[in-house]
Amino acid sequence: MAEELIQILGNKEDVYSSILLQIKALVGDEKDSIANLANVSAALKETFGFLWVGFYLVKDDELVLGPFQGPIACTRIKMGRGVCGKSWEDVATIVVANVAEFPGHIACSSASKSEIVVPLIQDSKVIAVLDVDSDEFATFDEVDAHYLNQLCEWLVTII
Ligand code: SME
Repeated sequence: MAEELIQILGNKEDVYSSILLQIKALVGDEKDSIANLANVSAALKETFGFLWVGFYLVKDDELVLGPFQGPIACTRIKMGRGVCGKSWEDVATIVVANVAEFPGHIACSSASKSEIVVPLIQDSKVIAVLDVDSDEFATFDEVDAHYLNQLCEWLVTII
């Protein structure tokens, strides 16, 4: 396991390509899901300086807070509630440029301005969502969606 991340300079595509390779090396040999999701959260937060990075896990009929990095967050989210609950319901990645304009957004932190939520899908079912929040407006675009989807597609094969 690598002991520290190598931070590369370059455009967002270059940084994502590098960090995804490093994440695969970091968690590839570990079988524990919580340990892996925790390190993925830390790697993304450390690399990009996002406000909050973490996972909500589907447990029974709710999303329950899982491994994360950042300020304390709400622990349970119902299907359809907020961006995370909507991503779960729609089985879709959601990019929000201004969270104040998203109907039903759950404001865990007043510092959060924009976010992206990506579902982890196994056998056509959402088993978790990756939630990334920024303290700036319009941080996320199709580049983030592309690489974070790639990451989540891979994560479901190893957790
Ligand atoms: N913003 C999320 C809630 C989770 S926190 O931001 C960590 C939402 O509306 O789904």
